[in-house]
Amino acid sequence: MAAIIINGNKIAKKIEIKILKKVEKRKKDKKRVPGLAVILIGNNPASEIYVKRKILACKNVGFFSQYWNFPCDINEKKILDLIEKLNNDINIDGILVQLPLPEQINYYKIFSSIRPEKDVDGFHPYNTGSLCQRNPHLRACTPKGIMTMLNYKKIETHGLHAVMVGASNIVGRPMSMELLLAGCTTTVTHRFTKKLKFHIKNADMLIVAIGRPNFLHGDWIKEGAIVIDVGINKLKNGSIVGDVDFYSAYLKASYITPVPGGVGPMTVITLLQNTMEACEKYHDNQ
Ligand code: GUN
Repeated sequence: MAAIIINGNKIAKKIEIKILKKVEKRKKDKKRVPGLAVILIGNNPASEIYVKRKILACKNVGFFSQYWNFPCDINEKKILDLIEKLNNDINIDGILVQLPLPEQINYYKIFSSIRPEKDVDGFHPYNTGSLCQRNPHLRACTPKGIMTMLNYKKIETHGLHAVMVGASNIVGRPMSMELLLAGCTTTVTHRFTKKLKFHIKNADMLIVAIGRPNFLHGDWIKEGAIVIDVGINKLKNGSIVGDVDFYSAYLKASYITPVPGGVGPMTVITLLQNTMEACEKYHDNQ
């Protein structure tokens, strides 16, 4: 069996058109356009690329965006002061602090300081907790983007055994909550998991986010499994590959996401969706 390839670029484009129309309508109604503030600390090359994509995506739909790039030895107080300013800026609906952060910057302090209504990354404890309690507000972009992909493909998730490979705050953990909400039985595997291959073999759906190029081979998966590859890895020869060995998995899966062109564009478009949602739901009446 050869899998159906889920084209993230195509789905993201459709959503982009919807957002564009909403922005046009807002302009016609003399409302301000949604605004996103992006903060990058340090010069991690991958983060620089992702941040550029996010800012370009804002431009493409007519959002207002602001960008800060701080040196990696910046002190935490400066970031917290900026976040406080942005929390009170009526032109800003979303605040994004790109991860990973340098060591001296405390992840929990930073994300707790963002007003939950402007937390378009869905990393504030209020937003994370709301999702855990089956009452989601702003939701983490990559997991929400994956749910959007599954919905576009009309994939029935109820009763599936979904296995997360990787337990990060950005993907594995919130993804398990999304899938639990969508009626899956969920297993989250991580670096201490014993019998990883056993769990993978039992999965009806795999969400792989570990940052190891071509790690998961098609031999490991169940015939007909749905394979969602979140990894974006650059090889020495310059090519970009996922965490899944694409071709061997493609031959066994029912659905598979490619890298590039799968989950990546969905993360970016979901950030725009969240910024629009924050604007409409929380800030229009200010
Ligand atoms: N780094 C990798 N993915 C993400 C994301 O979705 N949000 C932020 N803020 N940083 C990231």
